[in-house]
Amino acid sequence: VLVRREDYTAPSHWIRSVDLSFDLDPAKTLVINRMRVEPNADRPGEPLRLDGEAITLTRVLVNGESVSFRNEGGQLVLDKLPTEAFDLEIRNTCAPEKNTELSGLYTSGGGFFTQCEAQGFRRITYFLDRPDVMAVFKVTLKADARAYPVLLSNGNLIDSGTLDKGRHFAEWSDPHPKPAYLFALVAGNLVCREQKIRSRSGRDHLLQVYVRAGDLDKTEHAMNSLIASVAWDEARFGLSLDLERFMIVAVSDFNMGAMENKGLNIFNTKFVLASPATATDVDFGNVEAVVGHEYFHNWTGNRITCRDWFQLSLKEGLTVYRDQEFSQDMAGEASARAVKRIEDVRQLRQFQFVEDAGPMAHPVRPDQYQAIDNFYTATVYEKGAEVVRMMATLVGRAGFRRGMDLYFQRHDGQAVTCDDFAQAIADANPDSALSVRLEAFKCWYAQAGTPRVNASGQFDAVAGSYTLTLSQRSPATPGQPGQAGKQPFVIPMALGLIAADGVALPLQLEGETAPHGTERVLVLEQTSQTWVFTGLGELTAAPVPSLLRGFSAPVVLEWAASEAELFTLLAHDHDAFNRWEASQKLALARLLAAAQADGGAAHLDEAYLQAMRHVLRDERLDAAFKELVLTLPSEAYVAERLAEQGVPVDPQRIHAARETMRLQLAQALHDDWVWAWETHQDNGGYRPDPLSSGRRALANLALAMLVLAATLRHDPLWPGRAYQRVKDAGNMTDRAGALAALVNARASLAEPALERFHAQFRDEALVIDKWFSLQASASESDGMVFARIKALAQHPDFTLKNPNRARSLLMVMTQNPAVLHRADAAGYVFWADKVVEIDAFNPQLAARLARALDRWRALAEPYRSAAREAISRIAAKPELSPDTREIVTRSLAD
Ligand code: ARG
Ligand code: ZN
Repeated sequence: VLVRREDYTAPSHWIRSVDLSFDLDPAKTLVINRMRVEPNADRPGEPLRLDGEAITLTRVLVNGESVSFRNEGGQLVLDKLPTEAFDLEIRNTCAPEKNTELSGLYTSGGGFFTQCEAQGFRRITYFLDRPDVMAVFKVTLKADARAYPVLLSNGNLIDSGTLDKGRHFAEWSDPHPKPAYLFALVAGNLVCREQKIRSRSGRDHLLQVYVRAGDLDKTEHAMNSLIASVAWDEARFGLSLDLERFMIVAVSDFNMGAMENKGLNIFNTKFVLASPATATDVDFGNVEAVVGHEYFHNWTGNRITCRDWFQLSLKEGLTVYRDQEFSQDMAGEASARAVKRIEDVRQLRQFQFVEDAGPMAHPVRPDQYQAIDNFYTATVYEKGAEVVRMMATLVGRAGFRRGMDLYFQRHDGQAVTCDDFAQAIADANPDSALSVRLEAFKCWYAQAGTPRVNASGQFDAVAGSYTLTLSQRSPATPGQPGQAGKQPFVIPMALGLIAADGVALPLQLEGETAPHGTERVLVLEQTSQTWVFTGLGELTAAPVPSLLRGFSAPVVLEWAASEAELFTLLAHDHDAFNRWEASQKLALARLLAAAQADGGAAHLDEAYLQAMRHVLRDERLDAAFKELVLTLPSEAYVAERLAEQGVPVDPQRIHAARETMRLQLAQALHDDWVWAWETHQDNGGYRPDPLSSGRRALANLALAMLVLAATLRHDPLWPGRAYQRVKDAGNMTDRAGALAALVNARASLAEPALERFHAQFRDEALVIDKWFSLQASASESDGMVFARIKALAQHPDFTLKNPNRARSLLMVMTQNPAVLHRADAAGYVFWADKVVEIDAFNPQLAARLARALDRWRALAEPYRSAAREAISRIAAKPELSPDTREIVTRSLAD
């Protein structure tokens, strides 16, 4: 069934409080659910329709009396209810061990866990399972004391004790009213790391991280990240922890990353556990970001939640913005902040831009859905975060803080909309660049598709002026025609002007009496606008514009820069993001040419190589930044740029062109890579800070380049060194980096290295995931990687039932274009089989995997037809889940 945003109506009843009692048993758990229900005075006389799914009802009592009820479309419908508040008691059972969808109450590794967002609570008991119904929860858990010594739920522990037959109980009470999607319970044999902290407000809190017994040594980083998150939200937004106890629990079977249940966050182990021996620098960064993200939800999501699921970005976009800011602040130095920004933008372009160009394109605030779980997307999350960032840019840092303060003043304890948020930010800054055009700005919530901004500049040496013209257009997206069909967006354009020698020029617009700094934000709000910068009479050559600094808006910038301009920006731009961007444009131009040329040969010119050498050797630049500059744009990014130009995408040619360029870069800069490797060895102990992780990243890139070039020459030196490193590395970043270098170069030492690695970490599930994904992401050659993936799908360690393991092979494979897109269509066939197989027991996971061929229409033949056929094969299965059905139907719709 299709749900539409415009059909929103308030609930017929409110549920003010819930008293839940669980008799936990993997096969059959008994749930007693006592609710205090109040008719909504605005909607008198309506029946109460309670959501329920995959549960067995045993009794219904209203004010203690049994009543008649009916079942309608899966809902439990009660008519003729009291017109005043009443008690409603429901008893039902569910089967946690049979819950393979991992939504609702399920078992994992011998424990009980829940996942209720978005609509899992209805799989636990009958309820008004919608975010605008908020209740106070009291929860009693009863379970076998030996098998489940730890019993947790939201809020505060108010009682616990023993029962007969070896059972025990715990009673929890959460004073904060919350929607059902924030309910959680955990029961199992767990241990915890705990720490008491005193917050700024002077209150004491107990922080706990629960894991399985063998994992306690991997919880220090998560705890530190949590402590830092608490301090950061107080310092930056004045938001304090409102609970006596805050718990994080790790579970190894989890569909998503983590979940912000009030006071009881449940995390995928991947985003909690980290030790130098088992986690890479990227993992450490992810743990920090996700711990922060879920913690920040406590205010942006839990204290103020969403009125309905169309408003999902209200909490997700804002919370991603907050976690990105947190990670930047944790990174500290300006250069490290820029690196984090570049990584976030790279992610946005690789996933969100692609989504925005395909059949699943939807606005940040979608208008309709069939399965809400399909809308936990890069658009709602990452583009949503960019929308918040643009608001912050338009009102300034202090103004944004004022806006957040007003948002909490107005809406604390409420379920609200994206409009309410934007209004609060604007109202707190009445004269700001946002407030004067708020309605137009809100197009970002309503219109899908990545806007294109065209820039052209003209220098008038005689007048000493530089004229900049910016124009915008929007592509058509499903249900939304392009161009004339869409309103112009409000686009904050941060920019500067640079003289050819690198000097930042003062910016004075026509009509102004003095310059205003060397960087400013123009607001493009019409289809086309022109600005004239004056006072440039001293210049002998045209200045170079540095546009869209820091990626100030989520747009595709079309600016036909000359090579010379890009080299100038790469060498001199004061904005680190744009320096990196210039490097990527230089590489992209060469990749695009090579991917379209016959023979696919990429010949890198001396000017480009020299510029790369310069960056590599530049003592003023951070290693992390160098690594980003010297990493070529991804194959997916190249494909998307081609698609944008209307060129049919041939993934094999893109792969061939990029690999050729990589090899050339490896060979031409050989001595520089040797230097980089030698000068970026860390001898001290492992620390995951930006400086040392940047050094490791660059050293690993250097090693990959050296192993690649050496393997081709049959020179054993560098493969030997990489093998040695797989054996004796002091941390997982270096060990996995060396292993990847061998695997990607197809060095003969790759096999023994893989074996060794597997043997060493056979008991570390998250490391074995890496072992799978490292092989699935390897550089394809002659179909060898694909053949390996098919074999790995039969490996005794492989299972589709664990989402992390399934993703480590299958999702990673679909993100490896030369493996997925084969002329013989075998990649598509394999993919389609797995989607169907997984869909039978875990629709959410299957629906994610089903998105792999979203962009099939952009492909060249024979890929295009073969991809459509594979999707059609999935669509032809009558028993498909609504989740996967929605994806394939949209994919095939024209
Ligand atoms: N709210 C969670 C987060 O972003 C994500 C939960 C998504 N769950 C789902 N089944 N779609 O942190
Ligand atoms: Zn979130």
